[in-house]
Amino acid sequence: MFTYERLLLENKAWAAEKLEDDKDFFNRLAHIQNPEFLWIGCSDSRVPANEITGTQPGEIFVHRNVANLVINTDVNLLSVLDFAVNHLKVKHVIVCGHYGCGGIKASITKNDFKPVLNMWLRNIKDVYRIHRDELDAIEDDSQKADRLTELNVKEQVFNLAKTSIIQRAWKEENRPHLHGWVYGLKDGIINPVFEMEAGTHIDPLYEYDNL
Ligand code: CO
Repeated sequence: MFTYERLLLENKAWAAEKLEDDKDFFNRLAHIQNPEFLWIGCSDSRVPANEITGTQPGEIFVHRNVANLVINTDVNLLSVLDFAVNHLKVKHVIVCGHYGCGGIKASITKNDFKPVLNMWLRNIKDVYRIHRDELDAIEDDSQKADRLTELNVKEQVFNLAKTSIIQRAWKEENRPHLHGWVYGLKDGIINPVFEMEAGTHIDPLYEYDNL
């Protein structure tokens, strides 16, 4: 048996189990999705949004990329954000990083990861530069990466707040609330490191007044 065939077999077993618990499960979900949360997480295979939060299909709208970045020219991320905020009307947007993140560790090195990854990781180097004094003072490499992971999540929440998508929803509907979390690979526990209530003021340079 090929390894991918195991996935298809497991899928059949899973679907049967779901039906056993709840005959209407797929019927209901096929007609509507009404998630309360948008999750922006790392692509890392060890951080599956639903599993670590004990949630079911239909509960979290998910976008994942390397090191959970919110980049203002990323059409993919922005489309997901727009749809989640303006159509699904999510109440919370969660940026969830994780300790031990390969993207974060790579960004601290001077290694050339070739054009595309260099381009992506540059965004994390920019976060480091903003917090250089604090990070340079940490001698242990893994502690330094962990702290950068926390600061990165916080910075990505700011990036969300800088978008007109979020600012318009804040003004008109007083949602969504923004959250910066970091998941621990070693203990499975999520550490909530930062929070921004809907309507929080940010640097006026980024605030639109004619939304
Ligand atoms: Co990662």
